[in-house]
Amino acid sequence: MQTLKVSLAERSYPIHIGADILTRSDLLLPHLKQKKAVVVTNVTVAPLYLDRLMETLANIDVSALPIILQDGESHKNWETLNLIFDALLDSHCERSTTLIALGGGVIGDMGGFAASCYQRGMPFIQIPTTLLSQVDSSVGGKTAINHPLGKNMIGAFYQPKLVLADISTLDTLADRELRAGLAEVIKYGLIRDSDFFDWLEINIEALLKRDREALAYAVYRSCANKAEVVAADERETGERALLNLGHTFGHAIETGMGYGEWLHGEAVSAGTLIAMDLSQRLGMVTVDEVFRVKNIFTRAGLPISAPGLGAERYLELMRHDKKVQDGKLRLVLLEKIGKAVISDAASEKEILASINAVCT
Ligand code: NAD
Ligand code: GLY
Repeated sequence: MQTLKVSLAERSYPIHIGADILTRSDLLLPHLKQKKAVVVTNVTVAPLYLDRLMETLANIDVSALPIILQDGESHKNWETLNLIFDALLDSHCERSTTLIALGGGVIGDMGGFAASCYQRGMPFIQIPTTLLSQVDSSVGGKTAINHPLGKNMIGAFYQPKLVLADISTLDTLADRELRAGLAEVIKYGLIRDSDFFDWLEINIEALLKRDREALAYAVYRSCANKAEVVAADERETGERALLNLGHTFGHAIETGMGYGEWLHGEAVSAGTLIAMDLSQRLGMVTVDEVFRVKNIFTRAGLPISAPGLGAERYLELMRHDKKVQDGKLRLVLLEKIGKAVISDAASEKEILASINAVCT
């Protein structure tokens, strides 16, 4: 097992990464304020890992109430959030009861948001079980639900007390979900870690084959990058926005297609290719760099073209982006592989041209 730390003064917390650590009561014990917890999970993850976690908690005399939600991005909304609040109130959870989110990014984002609001904030723990949630969403305290008009529009910054990433849970993950997680892994290489990008070019097939050592390394290196960025800019006033490479376009794809049609990682992949096209159009990256990026996403089995929603519709959806400032769109672009910048330099005409160039 390896451990990283997200350094945020009194809100600092560890990220434990390793195989079969879901059974490690000793890792959970120091972070539980009382002998009562709730486990928020879903109908897919519960049959796979809930019993194991309940046993781990029982071994330290913690009684836990499971809250089992429907599965899917289309359930990341107010109605589902309310089901969590109903269960918390029904079972007389207190402000010091811990909420444990067991599942992918949808469960982590919703569980975290519920924890941030319930009685004005209860402690929570992230136990991510998808590659995407282990490398990205469980770390950094962004929590949210979707609104019909925009992705992750209602939420809070609220840090967990602990992230426990058991990479053996990835054994049961569908291939499509594994590939979607790789989009966020590749992102770190592109925005700030060119050595990692080089490593990914060599090891992408090993990751697709679920080689344990390669996966553990990719999760560790991704979390190390994310922990550094979050420690420097917790509430996204600057550098943290770079983690959104491809996301402005990607969120437009997710919202425009209907939540759940395109997986988040798939939308980020296609969105990153639009950002690359725009970066090249503005003279920032070379044709060769665009080729390398296209190539790695193709090898990862991810989409390199975006759905044809119509370029104007993309722009309309993108106007809800959280990086919009004084009504002006700001986009994450690449200066080179390993260095991203936030820029408002692109004209509407150039943005439309890049969308059209990458759309099918
Ligand atoms: P997800 O939570 O929908 O999980 C993907 C699928 O895998 C689901 O069907 C889930 O039930 C299933 N699953 C989970 N663990 C499994 C396992 N071990 N074995 C088999 N099946 C398993 O999707 P995701 O890709 O994990 O997360 C995407 C979400 O994360 C999006 O809503 C996105 O907006 C959000 N996100 C948030 C942040 C953040 O910083 N908070 C960052 C990136 C993405
Ligand atoms: N996933 C982007 C962020 O955490 O800032």
